[in-house]
Amino acid sequence: MSSPNLGSHIDALKANNCRSIVLCSGKGGVGKTTLTANLGVALAKLNKKTCVVDADYGLRNLDLLLGLESRIVFTAQEVISGGCRLEQALVRHKHETNLMLMPAGNPRMLDWFSSEHMRTLITLLSESFDFILIDAPAGVEDGFKNAVAGASEAILVVNPEISSVRDADRVAGLLASQGTIDTIQLLVNRVRPRMVEKLDMLSIEDVLDILAIPLLGVVQEDEQVIIAANLGEPLALGKPKSPAAFAYGNIARRIQGEDIPIPDINAKHGGFVGRLGEFLSTKII
Ligand SMILES: Nc1ncnc2c1ncn2[C@@H]1O[C@H](COP(=O)(O)OP(=O)(O)OP(=O)(O)O)[C@@H](O)[C@H]1O
Ligand SMILES: [Mg+2]
Repeated sequence: MSSPNLGSHIDALKANNCRSIVLCSGKGGVGKTTLTANLGVALAKLNKKTCVVDADYGLRNLDLLLGLESRIVFTAQEVISGGCRLEQALVRHKHETNLMLMPAGNPRMLDWFSSEHMRTLITLLSESFDFILIDAPAGVEDGFKNAVAGASEAILVVNPEISSVRDADRVAGLLASQGTIDTIQLLVNRVRPRMVEKLDMLSIEDVLDILAIPLLGVVQEDEQVIIAANLGEPLALGKPKSPAAFAYGNIARRIQGEDIPIPDINAKHGGFVGRLGEFLSTKII
């Protein structure tokens, strides 16, 4: 199989009018896979042909969250090695026919899968889809670099915690230097308005002050997300209605270009960062 060079998958994306977006974070467990599944469903519900690509070859959770684990026959591994055609590896979602999963192969893929392989995969997929969402692994090592190599846009997922924000800042620098990512947007996940109100959690403003990246959306902490994950039925499918399900729908609409205002779930206060500064200076005195 031919391996496109650095620019050719970008050319293919443009020619095929396809947008390829990587969801990444640096820090693990912030909600990348959950968001990939739910935004994939939400875009599909908007009538966009969408492919979610599992680029986390070590952990492979995307199939589980979508309830598709037992339908996988072939994976990206066979596509790249010539063991099957692209269409044979793609798994259609049970309820959203516009949504397909490109499953990850076994964890040994970590040993040989390269950025060029990812670009080849994305070039092939771009012929059939409006949107490709790539679920990146945690960290900034090769798995992350391969995931990013297939995209021209990035959604940086962050939790309102200092460690998550610091890792995201590092990833933002890497994305900017990578050369083919032309848009980076921020998604703040697992926000707890009560904790923000009590100044126990960073507010959205605090996070934006630190990272200075345009905000795509905010998703609240919502226990329905965890229940849905265990059922393999992403909340964005619409049942039950919950704050996160509502947010996923709005974020998908913003991704496709609609001007949907972001609700202000920030408590009005001087900012956790400011307070942290006050606290530190008090301690020094
Ligand atoms: N808005 C939310 N409210 C409550 N729980 C959430 C929310 N978003 C994600 N979670 C939970 O957070 C946990 C981590 O989510 P997920 O696996 O999507 O993170 P990740 O960034 O993909 O992790 P990894 O870096 O290990 O790949 C899961 O248990 C998931 O159900
Ligand atoms: Mg994940």
